[in-house]
Amino acid sequence: MKSVMITGGAGFIGSNYARFALEQHPDWKVIVYDKFTYAGNPDNLTDLASRFKGRYTLVRGDIADREAVFDAVKQHGIDIIINFAADSHVDRSIEEPGTFIMTDCYGTYELLEAARAFKIERYHQISTDEVYGDIEPPGRSAEADPLRPSSPYSASKTGGDLLCLAYHRTYGLPVTITRGTNNIGPFQYPEKVVPVWVTNAIDNQPLPLYGDGRQMRDYQYVLDHCEGIDIVVTKGVPGEAYNVGSGVETTNLDLAHAILDLLGKPYSLIQPITDRPGHDRRYAVDNNKVRGLGWAPSHTFAQAIEKTVRWYRDNESWWRKIKTGEYLDYYKRQYGGREVK
Ligand code: NAD
Ligand code: DAU
Repeated sequence: MKSVMITGGAGFIGSNYARFALEQHPDWKVIVYDKFTYAGNPDNLTDLASRFKGRYTLVRGDIADREAVFDAVKQHGIDIIINFAADSHVDRSIEEPGTFIMTDCYGTYELLEAARAFKIERYHQISTDEVYGDIEPPGRSAEADPLRPSSPYSASKTGGDLLCLAYHRTYGLPVTITRGTNNIGPFQYPEKVVPVWVTNAIDNQPLPLYGDGRQMRDYQYVLDHCEGIDIVVTKGVPGEAYNVGSGVETTNLDLAHAILDLLGKPYSLIQPITDRPGHDRRYAVDNNKVRGLGWAPSHTFAQAIEKTVRWYRDNESWWRKIKTGEYLDYYKRQYGGREVK
């Protein structure tokens, strides 16, 4: 049995990956290590304890807390660390950059220190295409391109990537990195654009659209991303980064139309609002390197968005529980008074 620590495993992608890993690797024990910030949700993991008896453990802890990290790695005899833990929302990083630097940069350092001290077999960092900054069409960011992050979030993630590469070069730590594009699918906290828009549309509420809505993102299905991560963890070359994305970009306006069409709601629900400061115009990645390991996306954009909308329609109790209290305060702070007539 291998012991695999999935940090940030109570969040959106981490919980999807924890379930995927337990299904795909009968010889893995999974230890989810999570601080349970507002984005960490025990409801994302409820099926795991009964489905994977003896192979799944949940530990509450902060990746920036050395003692807690070292204790967990030692106690569970960790062989592999896969680090999903992060503050992950660009808009919140504009409001409060400090927590992003602490978790995404300093927390990564503490995990790398633990990996070094306990000589673990593989440290894998979950990174993002945002480290490249935006790119004019028809360009595509490749792994060796310069890193030009635009927001406090992406700058903190870039710091994490650079630390990982430095630990590989300096200490020979077996590190790999994946740089994923925008994920969509089950269990995404309703602050990211797709769950905000889908849940608002279900309730006939406005869909806030930043600026002119012509920004482009590569919206991939979360399980395609999980497969890409898994292939890099098991087959990737230490010291290397790999882009994971579908290679297909969609404008935010087209995304809004797709969601409203799937729900049978009018386009008049789209509400233009003032733009995000420093907003990156377009992300697009070259995915040939990860394809070289045998990965290919299994979902088209149309399939990914259809499955995602269906999940939120079928799982109202999951998101209605979140859209109360702290969330409503955040929503008011984030969107209040930004309407453009
Ligand atoms: P999320 O915000 O849904 O979940 C983050 C998880 O990390 C939460 O469970 C939270 O409690 C936990 N966490 C936060 N700070 C922590 C700390 N200090 N110690 C321990 N746990 C902590 O995020 P997500 O969207 O699932 O993103 C996961 C990872 O993937 C992040 O590293 C993010 O940068 C990266 N990523 C996300 C996307 C995307 O589209 N969501 C795309 C590419 C890469
Ligand atoms: O590219 C990968 C990144 O994708 C990840 O690293 C981040 O963790 C993840 O949050 C995501 O970042 P984005 O900023 O691209 O995602 P977000 O869902 O916040 O916004 C997607 C696009 O939609 C972006 O162009 C801004 C726009 N938007 C967003 C929101 C929340 C709107 O127009 N309206 C909104 O209400």
